[in-house]
Amino acid sequence: MAKSNRSKNITIQPGKPPVFTVVARPLWDCAALVIPIFESQKQRFVADNLPQDIAGAIHTAIELHEFEAKAGTLIQANGIGGAKRLILLGMGKSADFNPDQIRWAGSLLSRHLRKVKVTSATFHPAGLEHDNWPVLAGALAEGYALGDFKFSVYKTEKKSQGTQKDSPDNKPLALTIFCPDQVSAKTVESVLAEKTVITTAANLARTVACHPANMIAPDSLTAIARTIAGANKLKFSVIDAKAAEKLGMGGLCAVGAGSDSPPALIIMEYHPRGVKVNTAKTIAVVGKAVTFDTGGISIKPAADMGAMKYDKCGGMAVLGIMQAVAQLRLPHHVVGLIPTAENTLDSRAYRPGDILHMYNGKTVDVTNTDAEGRLILADAIAYACEKFTPHALIEMSTLTGGVIVALGGVFAGLMAGDDALAARLTTAGHATGERLWRLPLDKAYRKLLDSPHADMVNSGGREAHPIQGGMFLSEFVADGVPWAHLDIAGVADPKKDDRWWIGDNATGFGVRLVVEYLQSLGA
Ligand code: BES
Ligand code: MN
Ligand code: ZN
Repeated sequence: MAKSNRSKNITIQPGKPPVFTVVARPLWDCAALVIPIFESQKQRFVADNLPQDIAGAIHTAIELHEFEAKAGTLIQANGIGGAKRLILLGMGKSADFNPDQIRWAGSLLSRHLRKVKVTSATFHPAGLEHDNWPVLAGALAEGYALGDFKFSVYKTEKKSQGTQKDSPDNKPLALTIFCPDQVSAKTVESVLAEKTVITTAANLARTVACHPANMIAPDSLTAIARTIAGANKLKFSVIDAKAAEKLGMGGLCAVGAGSDSPPALIIMEYHPRGVKVNTAKTIAVVGKAVTFDTGGISIKPAADMGAMKYDKCGGMAVLGIMQAVAQLRLPHHVVGLIPTAENTLDSRAYRPGDILHMYNGKTVDVTNTDAEGRLILADAIAYACEKFTPHALIEMSTLTGGVIVALGGVFAGLMAGDDALAARLTTAGHATGERLWRLPLDKAYRKLLDSPHADMVNSGGREAHPIQGGMFLSEFVADGVPWAHLDIAGVADPKKDDRWWIGDNATGFGVRLVVEYLQSLGA
């Protein structure tokens, strides 16, 4: 057989996160002074706590209608007061003050600073309400960090510029935040530290997701996961292809059979320190990591097939979640499971018509080798239930094109066997802006999966096909385990800029959501 065209060892180099500092006094002499303004504020903006020349400039900009404070807008003026640059940041309507709007402003700011090659700015809240201040600062920092994401390791030109030490493209961004209220300053500081951990984890998930399939295959992904686990003191194990075959993981083995990089089930485990193993709640998080999805023998059309390097995004979210959970020292026992395979063509590839024996003993009649995600997930879910008996199991996958048709790049599809879990996840979705819309998992859909030859088919055609995915997976969840399936096909790498901070990249969807969910569980 020909030598593999793949890189076996790649190092993941996520960008450095922004550095946030909270100060008790305003700094007027700075490279960039940033003042947030809400639409409702702009008429009566009497910033008596601002120096006159700055307040005057703001008034003029508003009077001339050059600045309407709309969300997603900013303007810059130079040389006013001691600041080299004055940036007015549009915050939108304060009536619909929501964290997503603030995140949007934060990401706009970091992207603007990169464009003008300035790496440090000072944020002055001027006329903002202080009640919301820690929440607002947190959302701003989140957007600032997510907006600064770039994936340019394969751009050779940028790299050579980067060897110049003083290249501003190479420096981490800094944001100094003036917090007028001494009491909330401490809270703001801890919120910023937490947001740094979470956004760094999301950006890690995005970085790994962006690498193409000639660089990341199941074997190299396993090595990357091992490194991340080591850096975060997570327990790490792998069920490799041989072990998976012995264990009877027919789904995982079949999907990965056509690739020169064999499939695997990656397991990362976090135990909270000082909490007895059997008293902590166990939460299992499972993510699909198909490093490339050609469709297999049921091959996909050529157009846009390159985007199938993003078919590992569910698994990448799990990587980010596990890092964040460890760094935040959450009080729960969290297990991350990442089934990984490359779905490709070969004489050894699985075929339509094949009948598979799955880990939980059920049989599957393969009607379409392109419905591969559910096959590798089924084995991972059944294994997670058996081995860990979790209090909740959350699974994320770029599972169906159908969910993109239904919900586009805005909401992920949520299918859950448990109402309480669905409600908690939906709430976490609103808080983080990683929003979920529930689709029914009803036994009336089960007949779509009926097979004349086996317990079920893996695909019963186009009808309700996101729900078929959910129904299929439910066959592999042990009785009594509350579980949810998030179909993130539309939100993992949306084409249109439906979300404010993505650019043309993976979003890391699921990291902030699931971390928020875990935090909402309390101790
Ligand atoms: N990875 C795809 C789903 C997908 C499609 C994600 C487009 C992102 C963009 C999945 O494995 C797949 O191929 N699903 C099929 C299922 C069908 C055969 C029932 C689909 O959606 O067409
Ligand atoms: Mn597929
Ligand atoms: Zn797929």
